[in-house]
Amino acid sequence: MKRIVILISGRGSNMQVLLETKLDAQIVAVISNNPSARGLQFARSAGVETKLVNHRDYADRTSFDKALGDAIAAYSPDLIVLAGFMRILTEQFIKRFSGRILNIHPSLLPAFSGLDTHRRALDEGVKLHGCTVHFVTPALDHGPIVIQAAVPVLPDDDEERLAARVLQQEHVVYPQAIRWFLEGRLAIEGNHVRLSAAWRNPVPIISPLPK
Ligand code: GRF
Repeated sequence: MKRIVILISGRGSNMQVLLETKLDAQIVAVISNNPSARGLQFARSAGVETKLVNHRDYADRTSFDKALGDAIAAYSPDLIVLAGFMRILTEQFIKRFSGRILNIHPSLLPAFSGLDTHRRALDEGVKLHGCTVHFVTPALDHGPIVIQAAVPVLPDDDEERLAARVLQQEHVVYPQAIRWFLEGRLAIEGNHVRLSAAWRNPVPIISPLPK
């Protein structure tokens, strides 16, 4: 059975969905850099081993990433899932686990990489926003894209309403991307991910859609 390690820094709703989803893999550990990450409690109550590697205990990024990498490697994972993990990872760390790290980002990349994606989407007046699951490479938020979900931005949206609409889709696409990974259906070719699966209903998404 394939082994997954999940990294979180906070709420952990994506982690929670993954723990509640039937996957052909074992989630062997949830690791956090933040002792007060809310998700840790849920993971423990679900019987999953948790581990803290607090970035504040390390002098610099390199030594933190070495300790984090060693903690992860101890579980021999096939896949590392970043689920709201709020630390920028060094190139050494990413190379150590190359092709085995997935991240979810709350925007339609490459638009709105970085932080405050929902506020920035509202400020720009985009009509479609969404989320992206991608492989992690040293270029922040720019790794090969596995899957995206788009949602409409509605006229009376605020950050909270828009974030909630996006999060709902995060909880759909992340398990899907991970299933594909576990089934060996994702091939990374340069900056592209090729999916060996039939496409269903490739319909355009238009927003706003006049009546
Ligand atoms: C999500 O919006 C995810 O896209 C981003 O951080 C947030 C984490 O939420 N990377 P949660 O901790 O999974 O609830």
